[in-house]
Amino acid sequence: MEMNIALLPGDGIGPEVIAQAVKVVRAVGKKFGHTINFEEALVGAAAIDQTGNPYPDTTHEVCLRAGAVLFGAIGDPKYDNDPKAKVRPEQGLLEMRKKLGLFANVRPTFTFPSLIHKSPLKLERVEGVDFVFFRELTGGIYFGEPRGRNEQGTKAFDTNVYTKEEITRLARMGFEAAQKRRKLLTCVDKANVLATSRLWRETVQELAPEYPDVKVEYEFVDAVAMRLIQWPKAYDVLITENLFGDILTDEASVISGSMGLMPSASVGTENKLFEPIHGSYPQAAGKDIANPLATVLSAAMMFEYAFDMKAEAQAISDVVNKSLAKGIVTEDIAEGSKAYKTSEVGDWLAENL
Ligand code: IPM
Ligand code: MN
Repeated sequence: MEMNIALLPGDGIGPEVIAQAVKVVRAVGKKFGHTINFEEALVGAAAIDQTGNPYPDTTHEVCLRAGAVLFGAIGDPKYDNDPKAKVRPEQGLLEMRKKLGLFANVRPTFTFPSLIHKSPLKLERVEGVDFVFFRELTGGIYFGEPRGRNEQGTKAFDTNVYTKEEITRLARMGFEAAQKRRKLLTCVDKANVLATSRLWRETVQELAPEYPDVKVEYEFVDAVAMRLIQWPKAYDVLITENLFGDILTDEASVISGSMGLMPSASVGTENKLFEPIHGSYPQAAGKDIANPLATVLSAAMMFEYAFDMKAEAQAISDVVNKSLAKGIVTEDIAEGSKAYKTSEVGDWLAENL
C-alpha cells in the first residue's frame, strides 16, 4: 500500500524523536512492502519563528493531504514566561485540533514489566494497570465563548460549553472501545455542580442501552483524581470533557512509571494525528538524549488506527519490547547501565524490526 504521512516535528525534543520514528516507519515500509511518503511542515514556536503563525495554512494543507499526521511536541519556555506574548505556540496546537476536527484524544496507560518499579505507586497497585482515556478535544472551556477580560482588565472569564452532539460522538467512541476491551466505561464529570456535566451524564445515560454489554459507571472528577492513584486497576475506558481530560491524563501518564513511553492519538471523522504524551522537554532539546519510544509507539498506533495495519503495529511494539529487554534505551530509563543516544535507539529499532 502507498501511504502519505505528514510530519510535524514542532519544538524542543520534537524533531529528534520524530526522526527516530521516521527510521522505524521506513523500516516497517521495507519489511511489509509499503511505499511511504513523508511531507514535513512547521508547527509551534518553530513555525512562529519562521512565519509568525504557529499553525500556518501551508501546514494545514499538508495535514489535509496526508492519511495521518505524526506530531512531535509544541512549546518553548520563551513564551511560557511571557504571559503578554501575542502569539503562543499552544495556539497552533489548539487551532490544528479544531481545524482538523480532532475531537477525541485517546491516551492509554499500560505498564511495561521492565519499568514498573519506576512507578510512584506500590507495585501491587500498578501491576497490570491498563486503561484508556477518551478526552474530548475540540470543545469545552478550551474553546467556549465569551472569553477574555472586562474593559478595565480586572476581571477575566472563560466559558464552558458542550452540545449534545459533541458529547455523543466522543461517548460513542468510548463505548465502542469498551466493547473491544473489558467492557467497562467510566463517565468522568462534575454533575453535582456543573450544567455541562449534567448534560454529559444525561447523554451517556441515553446512549447506554445501545451498548448493553458495556457496564457504565459515573464518577465525579475529584474522586477519579483520587481513585486513579488508589486503585488504577479499577478502570478500563474513561470518557471526559476537555479540561478534566487534560488534567487527569497527565496524572495517568506517570502512574505506570513509563511516561517516556506513552503514545497518544487525536482522531476525528476525517483526520488522525499521533503524538507522544511527554511534550517538548526543552531542557533536553538538541542533546540527543530524549527517549524516542513514545513517538515510535505513536507510530505503531498510527499503523493500527489510521491505516488498519495491525501486524505492522505489532512489529513496532515487539521491537520496542526487545529494546527494553536488551537495555538499548536512553538515559532516563538506563538506570546505571549504558545509556544509548536518541539516534542510536532509533537506529537499533530500525535495524532489528
Ligand atoms: C496537552 C497539552 C495542551 C492541552 C496544551 C499544550 C495546549 O497540555 O496536549 O495535553 O492543554 O491540551
Ligand atoms: Mn495537557
